[in-house]
Amino acid sequence: MRDRGWIYSGLGLFLILVTYPFWQNLRAGVTSKGPDLRRPAEAKQCVMPVSYMRTSHMDLLASWRENAVRDGVRTFQSADGQTYNVSLSGTCITQCHASKEEFCDRCHNYASVSNYCWDCHVDPRQAHGSAR
Ligand code: HEC
Ligand code: HEC
Repeated sequence: MRDRGWIYSGLGLFLILVTYPFWQNLRAGVTSKGPDLRRPAEAKQCVMPVSYMRTSHMDLLASWRENAVRDGVRTFQSADGQTYNVSLSGTCITQCHASKEEFCDRCHNYASVSNYCWDCHVDPRQAHGSAR
């Protein structure tokens, strides 16, 4: 039984090492809750249900783009019958998600997603006084 001390300290060390990522996340303030998104203050409903937008907003934007640029269709009727202008900067950003940084970017940064849309499209908040 002389080894008992070694066994317990070995077990202790093992537990510390195994749970290390957890403690490190706690320290870094990362939680399983995900990014802290700023949601629209006024609108209660997006152009499609939230569950659809979460998984498929990129498909919706792609079809908005195709429809507008190729077929000249510049309005979109949502599931609840409302009509919206097809406009990334105007409808998505200005009208509802007032801050691209605190909504789109926060989640994209969290998920390591990048997109090239803003090479051309304008974030209205950054439009003033900047080169783009
Ligand atoms: C090379 C420049 C460029 C890039 C990059 C780009 N677009 Fe566009 N986009 C345009 C132009 C030009 C139009 C046509 C504008 C018009 O006729 O009103 C347009 C129109 C659109 C429209 C319809 C009209 C509007 O103002 O929203 C949508 C939606 C759209 N793009 C989405 C996207 C998305 C999503 C991405 C990224 C995946 C993207 N675009 C990347 C240039 C670009
Ligand atoms: C809750 C998280 C979240 C939010 C908020 C979010 N996105 Fe995304 N977005 C994602 C994820 C995750 C992907 C990548 C999905 C994939 O690669 O399959 C993505 C992909 C995209 C793409 C496709 C990029 C590409 O090149 O394939 C576009 C365009 C896009 N998002 C636009 C937006 C815009 C505009 C907003 C804000 C109005 C926004 N997203 C808000 C999570 C989010």
